[in-house]
Amino acid sequence: MAATKITVNNDGSIRVEGDFEIVDPQGKVFGLAGRTAIGLCRCGHSANKPFCDGSHKAAGFNDTVVARELPPPKPKI
Ligand code: FES
Repeated sequence: MAATKITVNNDGSIRVEGDFEIVDPQGKVFGLAGRTAIGLCRCGHSANKPFCDGSHKAAGFNDTVVARELPPPKPKI
């Protein structure tokens, strides 16, 4: 298994576990109080962004996730 595992959950958060850090746009690290796994919001309804607070359930967020191959990246000009 990779050092960091990211699981995109159906109808909810993005779970990050393993060796990771989460930083703001200035590079300042979020204090995670020893957590080794965290859920990031992908529904846009959390009151504690970027973290999931469970609001996706009340919001009725619905997105089924199936792993797939992405196309090659476009060349940078
Ligand atoms: S994914 Fe859980 S609150 Fe947005």
